[in-house]
Amino acid sequence: MIRKFKPVVFLACLVPLMLLGWKAYSGALGANPIEVITHATGDWTIRFLLITLSVTPIRKLTGRLWLIRYRRMFGLFAFFYGTLHFLTYVWLDKFFDLHEMLHDVAKRRFITVGFTGFVLLIPLALTSTTGWIRRLGGKRWQALHRLIYLSAIAGVIHYLWLVKADIHEPLEYGAILSVLLGYRIIVWAGPKLSANKTKPLGKVRAEVPEA
Ligand code: HEM
Repeated sequence: MIRKFKPVVFLACLVPLMLLGWKAYSGALGANPIEVITHATGDWTIRFLLITLSVTPIRKLTGRLWLIRYRRMFGLFAFFYGTLHFLTYVWLDKFFDLHEMLHDVAKRRFITVGFTGFVLLIPLALTSTTGWIRRLGGKRWQALHRLIYLSAIAGVIHYLWLVKADIHEPLEYGAILSVLLGYRIIVWAGPKLSANKTKPLGKVRAEVPEA
């Protein structure tokens, strides 16, 4: 069932690109096509990052364990749209002008943080295969893949810093990201807190460092 469904999900993830391609083909990208492409690819990068981060909470809360089989695909689509977004900037916007790009990375803080978010995704995409999970070992692989949290935070800050007036949309993405990261903090801290509660008082006191 999941095998049959995977190509459908894969094609659904390509719809934003197809729509963009169709708009370009039919001349419907408007007066500033580079801006439209930059915005669409940027939007889908952050959306796929959030979709990827939603898989674990939804899976755990609903018991739909099979969802894990889509996580890698969603993560790779985040990287795919991020690469298109980056290439739009490098190729269509800056025409590979290295000097201007370095100047941008150094001087425009939203570019610096966006660039950081994209760079953080590269090791994740490169080590996304089962072979790499085996080579690194589950624990180390998991630790490395926590970089996605930093990348998503960088993505939201990037968006917040680039908008001039209406910060509504970046704030919405920020709120969703806070819920997704908050869930992980609760899952991580929950057992530690309850373990501390059940410890005998003497033992807890012994662990409190001297002031
Ligand atoms: C994790 C990586 C990144 C994410 C999630 C991301 C996301 C976004 C989003 C959501 C937008 C706004 C789209 C809209 O207004 O509808 C945007 C715009 C933009 N991004 Fe990124 N981005 C990333 C990396 C980068 C990188 C590496 C660059 C270039 C080095 C870049 C350059 C730009 C530019 C030039 C804009 C348009 C700014 C403007 O309208 O003035 N982004 N990005």
